[in-house]
Formats: sequence, C-alpha cells, structure tokens
Amino acid sequence: MLTSARDPAPAVRDDPRLMRTPPPAVIVIFGATGDLTQRKLMPGLYSLAAQQLLPPETAVIGVARSDLPDEEFRARMRAGVEAHGAIPVDDGVWEGFARRLRYLSAPFDQPEGFARLREMIAEKDARHGTRGNRLFYLATAPEFFPVIAENLGRAGLADEGDGTERFARLVVEKPFGEDLASARELNARLNVVFRERQVYRIDHYLGKETVQNLLVLRFGNAIFEPIWNRRYIDHVEITVSEDLGVGTRGGYYDQSGALRDIVQNHMLQVLSIVAMEPPARFESRDVRDEKVKVLRAIPCFDAASAARDAVRGQYGPGWIGGERVPGYRQEPGVDPASNTDTFVAMRLMVENWRWSGTPFYLRTGKRLPRRATEVSIHFKAAPHLPFATTAVESVAPNLLTLRIQPDEGASLRFLAKVPGPQIDLRPVSMDFAYGNAFLRTSPEAYERLLLDALLGDSTLFARWDEVERAWEIMDGLIHHWSATPGPFPNYDAGSWGPEAADALMARDGKVWRRL
Ligand SMILES: NC(=O)c1ccc[n+]([C@@H]2O[C@H](COP(=O)([O-])OP(=O)(O)OC[C@H]3O[C@@H](n4cnc5c(N)ncnc54)[C@H](OP(=O)(O)O)[C@@H]3O)[C@@H](O)[C@H]2O)c1
Repeated sequence: MLTSARDPAPAVRDDPRLMRTPPPAVIVIFGATGDLTQRKLMPGLYSLAAQQLLPPETAVIGVARSDLPDEEFRARMRAGVEAHGAIPVDDGVWEGFARRLRYLSAPFDQPEGFARLREMIAEKDARHGTRGNRLFYLATAPEFFPVIAENLGRAGLADEGDGTERFARLVVEKPFGEDLASARELNARLNVVFRERQVYRIDHYLGKETVQNLLVLRFGNAIFEPIWNRRYIDHVEITVSEDLGVGTRGGYYDQSGALRDIVQNHMLQVLSIVAMEPPARFESRDVRDEKVKVLRAIPCFDAASAARDAVRGQYGPGWIGGERVPGYRQEPGVDPASNTDTFVAMRLMVENWRWSGTPFYLRTGKRLPRRATEVSIHFKAAPHLPFATTAVESVAPNLLTLRIQPDEGASLRFLAKVPGPQIDLRPVSMDFAYGNAFLRTSPEAYERLLLDALLGDSTLFARWDEVERAWEIMDGLIHHWSATPGPFPNYDAGSWGPEAADALMARDGKVWRRL
C-alpha cells in the first residue's frame, strides 16, 4: 500500500483569504429551469458561495421560457442544491446567496427580453457593485447558442472594451457542433459578437480532479517523464464505460451517438493531456498550445482508416445487475431503425518523435458491465528476465492505471517475489486512492470550471483550434458511418461491446484491460 502524505496544514490552506477569489460579477444562466442548471450549475455556485469563493456582491440571473416569479425560481434552485449539491444547505448562506438570485422569463430568439436583461444587469451593477463584469452561461440546447450570442451583441452586452477594466465572457456548453462544418459555422457566428478570448468552451472532463492530476503526475514528478515515450510505453488505453443506457435522453442521443458525445471531445482531451509535451508554464496558452500539437499529430480518418482502425456498436437487449434491460432501439425517443453508435473503439497513432509506433486505443460505450473511466499506460516488457522459466509464467509488464472515475486514484503494477524458497514472480499493485490520501473531497468539475471562468483562467477550457482539430480528425469517420448502415445491434447490453472491438486489439496482439 502506498503511504501518502496527508494534507500538511488544512487549516491554513483552507483559509479563503489565501485562495483565489474572482472579482464581483453578474452571472447570467440561459436555460435556468433546465436539468444542467438544477443538477450542476446551482449546486456548483452555491458550493463556491459557501466556501466564500464568490464575492458577496455576485448576482445570478436565470433566464428561460417558463413564467416564474423570483420566489418560485429560488425555491426550485434550493431544491436542486439540496438534491444534488455536495454539501448540506446552510440557511444563512442560502439566504445571502438567494437574495441576489433573480429570474427573467424571455424567449431566446426575441431581442426584447435582452433589453430587459440589460436593464436588470445595469441595476445589479448599480446596487451590488458588480462593476460591469458579466458571465453568460449557455446551458441550453445548442441550436440556441448563436441566437443568444447575437441577441447579447445587439443589446450591447457582449462588449468588454479591451478587457482590462471589466469582462464579458461566454461559457458554451457541449456539443460544440455536430461535425467539422457545423462547428466552424457555430464558431464563426459566435465570433461575430465575442472574441476568442471571451469564449469558454466547457469540456467538463477537464474540470475533474483526476484529469488535472494527470498533469501533476506527469510534470510534478521526476520519475515518469523520462519513460513517458515510445521506448518504454507499449500502448495506451483509454476507456469511458457506462453501465446506463440512454434513459430519458434518447431523443437527444439518437442525433449524436458515442463518437460525437464522448470520443471527439472528452476522450481526445484526455488523450492530448496524456501525450502532450511538458509546457513551459502551467498557463492557459502554454498548456493549450501543447495539447493542440498532439491533436495535429493524429492523422484524420479517411475511408480506409475508418474501416481498419474504428469499430462501432449498438446495444441490443441484455442483462445488467441481474435486471433485464431493453436494447437501444427499444428505448424511448429512439428511432426503432436507428443507425446511431452507442459504442466506439478505435486505434489512433500520434505521429511525432515521442509516440511514433505506440498505439492509443480508445473505447467507450453505453450498457457495458460497469461504469469506469480509466487511462492505462502499458509499459513494455522487461527486455530480459534472468530468472528460471518456471518463475516467469505469470510475468506481466508494468501497468500504470489512472482512475478518473469512480474510485479516483492511480495504481502501478509491478512484479514481486512470492515468499518462499523459490523465485516465483507475481504482479502486485501499489495503490493511491484520493479518498484515503486526502482529508477533503474533490470539488465537482462544474464548481471548478465556474470559478475559473469568473477568474478569467481558460486553461481548462477548450480553445477553438483544439475543438476544430478534434472535429477534423473525426469528420471522415462521422460521415463514413452516417452514410453506411451499421451491423446493429451487435452487442448485448451488459457485455463489453462487439467482437470486432476485441479483434481490433487482437490484430496487434493485445487485449482490452478487464475492468
Ligand atoms: N443535463 C446535463 O447533465 C448536461 C450535461 C452535459 C452537457 N449538457 C448540455 O447543457 C445544455 C442544457 O442541457 P439541459 O439538460 O439542462 O437541457 P434542458 O433540461 O432541456 O433545459 C433547457 C432549458 O432551455 C430553456 N429553453 C428552451 N427553449 C427556450 C426558448 N426558446 N427560450 C427560452 N428558454 C428556452 C428551457 O426553459 P423552459 O423549461 O422554461 O422551457 C430550459 O431552461 C445542452 O447543451 C446539453 O447538451 C447537459
């Protein structure tokens, strides 16, 4: 068992005065009666307020279509925080927070509502001293992203001058486009109103502690970087598996699928952090420059590589946790003849000096046996083992596994001698678990990202050139798959995906890690 240093002095490090506090601002959430606001954004904001990480002047305005008095909106938001927040609601903290919570009923496509929004913001600036700082959060269906930005522009709300005295920032939810052409069009429309420096594209994987810990593991320790390359690493495996099906999101998911929903954004982001060169500084531009270089080194899919290096799947009925579950095509909101992928496996190469010849295997799917997000670094076998052949039957190469969720942590597998008179070898693991090593729980990804957006720190947000390159890589595959019917359904719910995914690995003499 790895012994870990407990927090040296939590009392001092938890002192809010020593932590980062953003300037006062008006936060406007579009889609304030929706699921994301209820489950993630309000709990995240409340948690920041409770830790005194939001200045007391901060005001929040929720915008949506429903006609709601402020009091009812506040009651709904409190219910969301109580149901989904990481900490219990304290009446005193909530009252202070709720006092500056307002609601505006305004259809997104009508400019009149934005004139009212401008008046409300001006009133907040005057009453609460929010100094013209605005954070607009687009927690809406993506079809509204451009029209909201345009209406903000028309109302004069997007202007931040040179950005030194006040800010106007736009946080954009996923999905950012549905292929390369639509992403470019969306970006062009946003850029008419907001400059790139004002746009914060959310990829909530980057807000996860364990993804950030990947950077610390790689660049804060001297022992990993010298072996973090093609000479010592045989291959890298990234898995995002879900045991759930599409649930009530069938209508949305059927237009998207696993490739667009998970691989193009979250998995390529994680891959780029695993594979990037060390940045000179941990600053937004340096980190994102290195990440985009990785993406540029990955060849784009064409028809030949789509057929050779990618596998798609769709689940049929099956069993999960002793329960019979329907197939994807039987889920509510899903086309009974749907051609949407609920599983993707692929092999990517990063063609640069560090990684040439080391494959990266990505796998994601719904209705797999368990929920887990992991990165596994498979090291090459020792070049020579000086032990008798009987001793080496169970030799397994070193494996570093980074668990992103659940049971956040890392483990390193290495060989050890079984106690006894002979030299018998067995793989054993050293484990680090966040839950045991630190006395505090990890903040929710959205909490961290909201704070960063208020602070103007865009390191953990996706820059346009990253997003565009990720679409470029996948665009050929997306179009190839939508033009050709998949052999669906081709895996049972509760299994690890279609046989072709195993064959993809077997071709290289490898197998997927059993999770
Ligand atoms: N939910 C999640 O866990 C999650 C996770 C990751 C990303 N996202 C992304 O976050 C965004 C929001 O998702 P969601 O699940 O919160 O959606 P949702 O529950 O459907 O909420 C949509 C919101 O938009 C409002 N709205 C819809 N049409 C409107 C119009 N014409 N004018 C004004 N308001 C309108 C709705 O208001 P009314 O209710 O008043 O009609 C509601 O507040 C999406 O881009 C999604 O992909 C969501």
